[in-house]
Amino acid sequence: MVRGASSVLLKPKTTEEVSAILSYCNQHKLAVCPQGGNTGLVGGSVPVFDEVIISMALMNQVESVDSWSGVVVCQSGCVLEALDQHVAEHGLMVPLDLGAKGSCHIGGNVSTNAGGLRLLRYGSLHGSVLGVEAVLASGEVIDCLSTMKKDNTGYDLKHLFIGSEGTLGIVTKLAINCPPRPTAVNLAFLGLQSFDDVLQTFRDAKSKLGEILSSCEFIDRSSLECVEENLKLKSPIEPHPYYMLIETSGSNGDHDEEKLNTFLEYVMTSGQVTDGTVATEPSRIQHIWSLRERIAESLIADGYTYKYDISIPLPHFYKMVEDMREHLGSSIIRCCGYGHIGDGNLHLNITSKEYEKEILSRIEPTIFEWTARVKGSISAEHGLGFKKRNYIHFSKSDGAIGLMKQMKKIMDPNGILNPYKVLPDN
Ligand code: FAD
Ligand code: MLT
Ligand code: ZN
Repeated sequence: MVRGASSVLLKPKTTEEVSAILSYCNQHKLAVCPQGGNTGLVGGSVPVFDEVIISMALMNQVESVDSWSGVVVCQSGCVLEALDQHVAEHGLMVPLDLGAKGSCHIGGNVSTNAGGLRLLRYGSLHGSVLGVEAVLASGEVIDCLSTMKKDNTGYDLKHLFIGSEGTLGIVTKLAINCPPRPTAVNLAFLGLQSFDDVLQTFRDAKSKLGEILSSCEFIDRSSLECVEENLKLKSPIEPHPYYMLIETSGSNGDHDEEKLNTFLEYVMTSGQVTDGTVATEPSRIQHIWSLRERIAESLIADGYTYKYDISIPLPHFYKMVEDMREHLGSSIIRCCGYGHIGDGNLHLNITSKEYEKEILSRIEPTIFEWTARVKGSISAEHGLGFKKRNYIHFSKSDGAIGLMKQMKKIMDPNGILNPYKVLPDN
């Protein structure tokens, strides 16, 4: 979707090396593109012209794990899955999980403020990241690497680097609060006949599962068909218009099972859920998760994917997919919806055999206007990067965008850090 023409890729190993690179690039007004695992979906990690790519791949050391507090300090190039396996040895887990875990970096996650599959339970990285060390465009190292859960000393500057997609500084280290790793995990895969039933089931899951609810995900029929057809994965239940994945995580298997059974009995007796299965063994849990996590990958086999990542009030959640499907008619292969329904985050994806400008012009800006009308966000978790930056005004006021531009000027006066990303052209 996006491609640059860089001829230089640098792979620093230390904060000092990042500082020396940025100091040189700033003096010579050379633009840079910070790159983590390169799994971003909005073109933020891809150079636009000939930017110097700064890959964080070799900055992958875990510096400390405090098993008392759960606070972990590491370099930003740690791959999410590897970091999670590392902290598992201390009975902890990284409070973030996403389909790209095998490639994305924790520094990339922080820089995009990634949401993922368990934000519902563990909250956003603005809450769990306790400290950040970052290098400014000038090469100056800003040490905000607090490891304390409570630290109200002045402005909390780390938040500037969380979600700013490499436009305000390069994140070199971070401290993250890791919760205890659950010892009892169950995953229910449910089939439902109507979207109202989906909403009701989410509400019941919150009230009946309470603190053990760790994920609530949504898949529509077309998304599941895509995974089944293109990746040959098999659904554990018969076809339904809608599906939900409901995960519980806790420390007492019997207690969790009893709660989950009560919930399932309730939603099945009331007729909200018409079929379902529960997995407790790791291999079945993994298979069911792959039906959800691999949708993005399966869409690629359709041809070209027009990807949207939208926050939307729950009553409007699926209407958007239905409206867009009707609006686009037979000019496309698929218009499907899935996502983190527990966080009001819809992934609306449209595929066509190949990229067609005419299809894109029918989707955009209609989809953003629709989102703004219901006071949603045009980028829930993927960021703006290169592809969505000129639509920022659908979700942010002129005043807020003006302040963002002023902050960028102060922190990166020569505009070398990831230019053409996040901020709009005008
Ligand atoms: P990159 O793609 O390399 O970079 C992303 C942005 O951050 C770029 O702007 C880059 O310049 C900047 N950046 C990277 N590292 C640094 C650094 N150290 N300092 C400063 N800037 C930096 N996202 C979600 O939020 N939730 C999901 O559930 C989710 N699922 C996904 C599933 C799949 C299969 C795929 C392919 C992607 C998914 N994503 C998801 C999107 C993507 O994985 C996330 O945005 C992820 O956080 C990006 O991490 P990365 O290391 O690959 O960063
Ligand atoms: C997901 O939740 O699967 C990701 O954010 C990727 C996508 O939007 O397809
Ligand atoms: Zn997602």
